[in-house]
Amino acid sequence: MSTIRDVAKLAGVSTTTVSHVLNKTRFVSEGGKAKVEAAVIELNYVPNTIARSLKGGSSRVLGMLITDANNPFYADLIQWVDQVAYRYGYNLILCNTQGSIERAKDYMVMLNQRRVDGMLMMSSDARQLPVSSYGTMPMVMMDSGPEQAGYDRILDDSEQGGYMATKHLLASGHRSIGLLAGPLDKSNSQNRIAGYRRAMAEAYAEVDERWIQSGEFTYEGGAEAMSKLLDQPSSVTAIFASNDLMVMGAIRVAGKQGLTIPHDLSIIGYDDIPGAKYFNPPLTTMSQPLEQLAEQAIAMLLARIETPEREGQRTLLPPTLVIRDSVAVRKPVEK
Ligand code: RIB
Repeated sequence: MSTIRDVAKLAGVSTTTVSHVLNKTRFVSEGGKAKVEAAVIELNYVPNTIARSLKGGSSRVLGMLITDANNPFYADLIQWVDQVAYRYGYNLILCNTQGSIERAKDYMVMLNQRRVDGMLMMSSDARQLPVSSYGTMPMVMMDSGPEQAGYDRILDDSEQGGYMATKHLLASGHRSIGLLAGPLDKSNSQNRIAGYRRAMAEAYAEVDERWIQSGEFTYEGGAEAMSKLLDQPSSVTAIFASNDLMVMGAIRVAGKQGLTIPHDLSIIGYDDIPGAKYFNPPLTTMSQPLEQLAEQAIAMLLARIETPEREGQRTLLPPTLVIRDSVAVRKPVEK
């Protein structure tokens, strides 16, 4: 098996330069970098990162625990996280719990065994793990991941997002506004409901509790919640759906009942997933600042790795409203 010395010899540089190229720890000229990379490939050199981390060094690997890689929101966010991690010279190990607490537990053990330098915890399943299972691993909690005192946390300001989405519907002349909420046990879902209620209360708009129906953050969840909402005796003219996948399910159900968007029913989503502008009609939605989320989450994690004893911080990122064509302006009814 070839060693770092073999690589340095073949590339005609020092072992320190090889190390800087591999770990991205210092600038190396393009020429030097190319020679090292060519030597690494020719010799099939594999740096022994685990052995290095066992000696107390860094593995330059970060873990990320997520619940649902199927949601394009997460796919998009993961791309950003990976890109930022790469820029700092880190590899990312992605662990998808798929809603299983057992998998979440196993991944924690695996990531510890792999000696990752730290991890981003974005899985709501991880909330069921005892804090003792976190060990001493530097961690940043994201999105609907665990709320644990003393840990860094970064997330979208979902309460403000729910408020802004509902305000937009109210400003468009709607007063009877339904809510397709996400799962009631998830914090982001609870916060979006709270924002909806705040905006409705501020506008003295009545909230009929039957207008709030919840479902999973999926196409199916949106379809189910929409069916329940449309079964209610009193009807709404607009709907705030807690994420864009739910909107897709909801639009299908509305279509089956002969309702068109936005003519019969206005709808606003949440996330601004890449497909939102291709919906029919293009979707008005709340956008989460994914690039910023990824940048700040990694920066927080690296700061935590550097200074494990620093105080836990909490950062809320404001979402923005993206206006497209799924909300109609409703004229006041003449009396
Ligand atoms: O996981 C479900 C939802 O939570 C996503 O669609 C996104 O809105 C996130 O905050």
